[in-house]
Amino acid sequence: MRAILTAALCLSAFAAISNAGAAQARRAAFGALADGTRIDAVDLTSRTGVRARIITLGARIQSLYTPDRAGKLGDIVLGFASPQRYFDDGNYFGATVGRFANRIAKGRFTLDGRTYQVTVNDHGNSLHGGSPGFDKRVWTIESLHDGASASVVMSYVSPDGEQGYPGALRVTATYTLTDSGELRIDYSATTDRPTIVNLSGHSYFNLASSPAHFSTMRDLLQINASHFTPVDDTLIPTGTIAPVAGTPFDFRTPTPIGLRIRDGNDRQIRYCHGYDMNFVLDGRPGTLRLAARVEDPRSGRVLEVYTTAPGIQFYSGNFLGGSFVGKHGIVYRQGDAVVLEPQDFPDAPNHPNFPAATLDPGVTYHSVIVYRFSVRR
Ligand code: GLA
Repeated sequence: MRAILTAALCLSAFAAISNAGAAQARRAAFGALADGTRIDAVDLTSRTGVRARIITLGARIQSLYTPDRAGKLGDIVLGFASPQRYFDDGNYFGATVGRFANRIAKGRFTLDGRTYQVTVNDHGNSLHGGSPGFDKRVWTIESLHDGASASVVMSYVSPDGEQGYPGALRVTATYTLTDSGELRIDYSATTDRPTIVNLSGHSYFNLASSPAHFSTMRDLLQINASHFTPVDDTLIPTGTIAPVAGTPFDFRTPTPIGLRIRDGNDRQIRYCHGYDMNFVLDGRPGTLRLAARVEDPRSGRVLEVYTTAPGIQFYSGNFLGGSFVGKHGIVYRQGDAVVLEPQDFPDAPNHPNFPAATLDPGVTYHSVIVYRFSVRR
């Protein structure tokens, strides 16, 4: 924690580069799926120059422009320029993932004495809500707001029994871009029957934003977690909560991502093909606290991730195979992104020692992610 505070003192927040008006939210057309379904976009702009495009397919971040240390804006998230590419792809670029982010072993869990089977889509397990998950649904734009901050509220109603999950779940994802250039996501959900829920944002960050220096292996990563949840070879947690000390998962001080990613002595690294692990965040779940910080030394861009969630998945883009072309004509290769997914612990419904991920009628689920952008001079 001390290291994070010291680093923060060296950073400069962005000065407003234009006095033109306050933050704005504007609706735009993004395109259509092959079957003709229209996909809309909402552009959030702030006076700092930071701007984000959110699309209704998966309530996802399609682009996110932030300045580097020279003030040059660059798109710092991976993705596509057209809706059908997102629809056909299995990487969850920028998406809201749910009902249950991350994995449920064999897609099976027991709630109030009854066993439920949800769809499986990942080595016999259920990943990110099964198939199709919330990332492939077309969300509704409920409202837009301008002012000191710009925001959009998107909603999706998942019917009782969808993908096998109990209860009709009403979900909203609210994206807010503040005038200081901070992007906040508020996820809310209510249900009409006891159920489980775990919502997360699945943005692939590349702070360099330059094809010539696209690998993230030199990025400095810090994660405020003293423990992690080791997995088996299908990435299902064993149930152990292990200390990070002495492992390649110790990111308590800023460490280049590539430094230990090839540690062949570490079974967890081998199982994950790099990093693909849930970290147990320090501090009290439910309070908004700094979870992780990434710095790209070349561009100077710094991303801080704050959340109320108990855990965060760090995935180092291990399954990007160099086989397709993304936005801006860039081929995505292994290690080209830092994915930080604040979340409940994977497979929580099957581990009584993990924080519960249940939701009852009359209670509102609320989880927050804040992405704060700055530069190191
Ligand atoms: C999550 C998972 C990864 C991978 C990506 C999407 O981060 O933990 O194993 O499935 O989503 O490719």
